[in-house]
Amino acid sequence: MKILFVCLGNICRSPMAEFILKDLIAKSGLKGHYSVSSAATSDEVIGDPVYPPAAETLSAHGLDCSGKTAVQFQRKDYGEYDLIVAMERSNVRQLIKTVGSDPYEKIRLLLSFAGDPGDIADPWYTRDFEKAYREIYKGCEGIIRLLKKREKGK
Ligand code: 4NP
Repeated sequence: MKILFVCLGNICRSPMAEFILKDLIAKSGLKGHYSVSSAATSDEVIGDPVYPPAAETLSAHGLDCSGKTAVQFQRKDYGEYDLIVAMERSNVRQLIKTVGSDPYEKIRLLLSFAGDPGDIADPWYTRDFEKAYREIYKGCEGIIRLLKKREKGK
């Protein structure tokens, strides 16, 4: 199963989600093969490494994101990924603009996995990277619950 996280720049929220979920999967006892990556809707900072305050927040929680650089979401990604997880509604709108429609209902809001329909506020603007980490973590825990259910159902 291939999971893609998406935010505006791919230097704060979606890479945080990528490395949090990879770590949770590694610790979860899940048996399936999962591939996790992240991408931007905008082309603003393509090629940049994870924004230092976001990387430092991950590092404070024991996660290493070195080597990750921002890439832009491509139309073909819709076919390549099983689940496309957006940080906020504006990301969903941008994704739909790029792919046209979502016939397989692959595009979801991260916090919907935590039973909360809200957006993850952009720490690029709020400057609260720890809050973003906590909310993203909560959403990723919800994804883990879903993956466990799916594996049990098989
Ligand atoms: P992100 O935050 O979407 O969480 O990666 C942003 C980072 C950079 C920009 C926008 C959002 N920017 O426009 O440069």
